[in-house]
Amino acid sequence: SATTRVTATGDVTIGGVSLTEIAHRFGTPSYVIDETDVRLRCRAYRAALPDAEIAYAAKAFLCRAMADWMRTEGVSLDVCSGGELAVARSAGFPARRIIMHGNAKTPAELRRAVDEGVGRIVVDNVGEINRLAALVPIDRRQKVLVRVTPDIEAGAHPKIRTAGEDQKFGLSVLSGAAGDAVARVLNQPRLELAGLHCHLGSQIDDVEPYERAARILVGEMARIRDTHRVVLPELDLGGGHGIAYLPGTEGLGLERFADAVVTAITERAAGFGLPVPRLIVEPGRAIAGTAGTTLYRVVAVKRGGSRTFVAVDGGMSDNPRPALYGSRYTVRLAGRVSREGPRPFTVVGHHCETGDTIAEDVPLPADLRPGDLVALAATGAYHHSMASTYNLMGRPPVVAVRDGRARLLVRREMEQDLMRRDVGL
Ligand code: LLP
Repeated sequence: SATTRVTATGDVTIGGVSLTEIAHRFGTPSYVIDETDVRLRCRAYRAALPDAEIAYAAKAFLCRAMADWMRTEGVSLDVCSGGELAVARSAGFPARRIIMHGNAKTPAELRRAVDEGVGRIVVDNVGEINRLAALVPIDRRQKVLVRVTPDIEAGAHPKIRTAGEDQKFGLSVLSGAAGDAVARVLNQPRLELAGLHCHLGSQIDDVEPYERAARILVGEMARIRDTHRVVLPELDLGGGHGIAYLPGTEGLGLERFADAVVTAITERAAGFGLPVPRLIVEPGRAIAGTAGTTLYRVVAVKRGGSRTFVAVDGGMSDNPRPALYGSRYTVRLAGRVSREGPRPFTVVGHHCETGDTIAEDVPLPADLRPGDLVALAATGAYHHSMASTYNLMGRPPVVAVRDGRARLLVRREMEQDLMRRDVGL
């Protein structure tokens, strides 16, 4: 993250706090989140896209403090469940700055979103249009976006591509399902169609799919104007902005993205004689990802077959991403210097599965031994939020660091917590 430093004694500090001290105070494994990095990312987005609305995708990582950081940075929130909505609201996050997503919003979630006064609800299927309209009080109009799929395949892994024709999200532009949904929304006096939405996929490092999506969506907006005589004010291009997990990689590149997308929208709108719609973007990983570090303690080092395994005290319960998407990471020793050269290690977890790998074939000092601390970089997004209690291991705490101080945001899940939901014999 932005404030990571390595001292002469091999201690790694983030936000001016030593990881050794964090391990001592909060135990391991722990998620460390660099508040400064998160805030700098928010500011970078607001500076690169001054006319756009930046809506952080809460699914990447949410707790009340995070919601408050977004509020104070002038960033909106994209939520995709009643749970995320509840956490945001209990942190005092303004409802009108919340965008409610979901391909299977339950009647209770829709009702809650309307009752709370959520700014926009994203329609993902025609069935929810009538259901939603029926929930809106007679004296109100609920703003909605219609989520469309522009037939674009982008995203680092098939499991995180969301804009093609053969997946569960959105309404197809090609088949006419999107146009049909738009007509239905426009027919509902209690709904106000604010614009179109699409989300291509995740961990995308190329701007071209975004430019293509922008052109297709503006084209749809022109068609909607021609058919229904309404000009939609907003265009939401979702998130998916890739970050660097490994040295030598770059991620999407915010400036490049901003430039390309704003140009595509402006030119296309001018071509159709449309006013330029207000852009909304929903980065999750690109706000929270690099700010996070997972701190583990080495439990065992073992030679097996052709590899040397380092087993740590966490694993697929705090990071399921290697098992799910084949994700790769960088790991480093934290807390001491080693005079030994690097050797390839495979970092594995504590779980009862062979696929419980954290990092395959990473260089670490040859004298790595039990008790050492290791730090896994870029774990701020989709780690805590995807953590489970598999093998009844409690989820790690989240510790925020800033200006030399560490602050607990989410405490460790203890045995009593795990037992609490088990109602007994
Ligand atoms: N907007 C919508 C509607 C989304 O569905 C998502 C992510 C985002 C924004 C934010 O995407 P981001 O900027 O964070 O890429 N668990 C996977 C990622 C799943 C993303 C799902 N939707 C992973 O660990 O890579």
